Amino acid sequence: MAVIYQQLCPVLFGNDAIADMAKRAAAEGRKKAFIVCDKGVRAIGAADRVADALKAEGVDAFIYDDIVPDAPDNVVMQITEAMKAYGTDLILGLGGGSSLDAAKAAGVAMDNGQPINVFMEENGNPGFVIKTPCYVIPTNAGTGSEVTPMCVVHEMASDSKKVVLRPAQLAVLDPTLTVTCPRSVTINSAMDALAHSIEAYTSVNPNPKDMILANNATRLIRENLPKALENLQDLEARGNLLFAADIAGIAFAEMSIHIGHCYAHEVGLRFELNHGHVCGLSVPETIRYVAEAKPKEIRDIAKALQVELPEGLSPREAGDQLAEGVRKWLRELGLKSLKELGVDREALIGVAKDAIDHNWFHVMCPGDVSYEQMAQYLADSYDNYQ
Ligand SMILES: [Fe+2]
Repeated sequence: MAVIYQQLCPVLFGNDAIADMAKRAAAEGRKKAFIVCDKGVRAIGAADRVADALKAEGVDAFIYDDIVPDAPDNVVMQITEAMKAYGTDLILGLGGGSSLDAAKAAGVAMDNGQPINVFMEENGNPGFVIKTPCYVIPTNAGTGSEVTPMCVVHEMASDSKKVVLRPAQLAVLDPTLTVTCPRSVTINSAMDALAHSIEAYTSVNPNPKDMILANNATRLIRENLPKALENLQDLEARGNLLFAADIAGIAFAEMSIHIGHCYAHEVGLRFELNHGHVCGLSVPETIRYVAEAKPKEIRDIAKALQVELPEGLSPREAGDQLAEGVRKWLRELGLKSLKELGVDREALIGVAKDAIDHNWFHVMCPGDVSYEQMAQYLADSYDNYQ
């Protein structure tokens, strides 16, 4: 069967990417840039740095720093109104996934003069036009959301997360922005990217371009996370992690995440745990889950993760040994277990049905995932890593 693969959004990458982005904005004739971020990103100086770079090129910049996690629709509409009032002709999303998504979504509402809810896929999106470009600038190396078309918005009326599909016009990856990322955020973000790359590499929807990207992302994370933790200012390691998260994002946008993120989304939501942390805990169990369906891929991942597997192992044995190798690394990184985080084992297993019902992409996992299998996965994630 033929496969199609594509690249949704151009990426500007390098230690001077912010300055280069500002030059490009000016060359495009942009006059008024609206920067969407949260208070944390503003506090570390990232928003001012971006605004100053734009102003140096003659582009005026306004900073909106009221983004909250899982941005709700009313915040997206507040941004829309503020952008209109400012006369925005360039939107910038700066920070983590929420800021990037809210910036992209607010542009859709502004350009089309209707509430963002109209354009949510779940609400029967009638289609829309893009008039105002949106640049997205991640400040940590994890989500890869700069290169996916997804904008997740919390719809308050239905109290559910819904999706607007709109890619950015430019992703700006500047490693110098990520050196302020503290140790714990660096680890959790890398774990998110690692779960993306491993799930993508073992999904039921592979294509040759994204397979190369996914396993190289895994390798880069394994090689560079320890270096970045040893010296948080290590720009080369930071750059490699940022690149790894980005190519993992490109890979999963096409090939899909699956069981690990069904688990991570539900467990994170129910027990209020960091997404990247839970992703890290998912990785060994995802490896075990797909081991028999994906024996070659397991060997490739082992190589990328520097885990030696002897010849002659059965696929099940190879999966178990690789999973244990990953757990050893997670312990070295200091990733706390669910037990240490105070999660009750029975309550954990109790989220199995919702993990499947709330996350359609379980179908992208080899052999799909039943309620019973998810319950076993949940129990294993608790028992096997303590
Ligand atoms: Fe993720």
